[in-house]
Amino acid sequence: PLALGKDVLDKARREGYAVPSFNTNNLEITQAILETAEALRAPVFIQVSDGARKYAGLENLSNLVRDMASRVSVPVVLHLDHGADYKMVLQALRAGFTSVMIDASHHPFEENVCETKKCVEAAHAVGVSVEAELGRLQGIEDNIVVDAKDAFLTDPEEAARFVEATGIDYLAIAIGTSHGAYKGKGRPYIDHARLEQIAAKVSIPLVLHGSSGVPQWLKDKMAATGADLGDPTGIHDEDIRKAIPNGIAKINIDTDLRLALTAGIREVVVGSPKEFDPRKILGKGREYLKQVIREKFELMGTVGRA
Ligand code: G3H
Ligand code: 13P
Ligand code: ZN
Repeated sequence: PLALGKDVLDKARREGYAVPSFNTNNLEITQAILETAEALRAPVFIQVSDGARKYAGLENLSNLVRDMASRVSVPVVLHLDHGADYKMVLQALRAGFTSVMIDASHHPFEENVCETKKCVEAAHAVGVSVEAELGRLQGIEDNIVVDAKDAFLTDPEEAARFVEATGIDYLAIAIGTSHGAYKGKGRPYIDHARLEQIAAKVSIPLVLHGSSGVPQWLKDKMAATGADLGDPTGIHDEDIRKAIPNGIAKINIDTDLRLALTAGIREVVVGSPKEFDPRKILGKGREYLKQVIREKFELMGTVGRA
């Protein structure tokens, strides 16, 4: 059934595992997430981005996820990903979301606090949990100087003040991950020392955005059908594993799902030129989605936690 974000994540941080938050845009992605979560007895977040809202409609996705979630036995959190402002948060509350993110991280600290506080007041009035972000998501180099890092990565001291001032339920932080399929050369550098300092000062669950791994098997499948992606790189599994004991309880994954769905679609379209049944084409994509989703639950220790 549908669950509250705070309930799911407080338990995760307490017990030392993380819950993946997968972006959905359509029926097939939602099916792949829920069928896999149910099969593995895993709690899960399903999140709707601005792009998803523009593509499929907030109400459509909300109705789809809430109806399907009501028919599985594991906890499912319907979450607004990167809510742009107060108005967007109100729309999600009205549409039945059980968790919302207000992302005012591009504003100066005081403005971020002010905008976030307003959203917390509204969401908490109707019992919905709130995520907010401090710091800016951006890849960092291994040898970058401390001052440069401090300019955009989350400051532990500030994080504690932000949580205290806003009353949010979980905090998204910047420690070197970034959105998309190109997270830097080789192994993207993750500031684990900074994460430890944040975790020591902030007791609420922490959230890691930009956490796709861009797995080799998906790169291979894309290349096998002639896709030209250049040299995509993701976050290494080892960095995800290492972050979870330091308070990371919600981990956002979108890019890997895009790759999986597209890899399946390409395989049928390119490999079977006579095929024109969209169910066969999307069906292969859904199969690869389920495979990559299973890998995420296993990586994050979510299996059997429902
Ligand atoms: O955080 C960004 C997500 O990957 C969603 O992006 O707005 O293009 O759907 P989108
Ligand atoms: P990825 O692009 O690494 O999948 O990150 C997604 C995300 O953070 C959505 O909020
Ligand atoms: Zn994000």
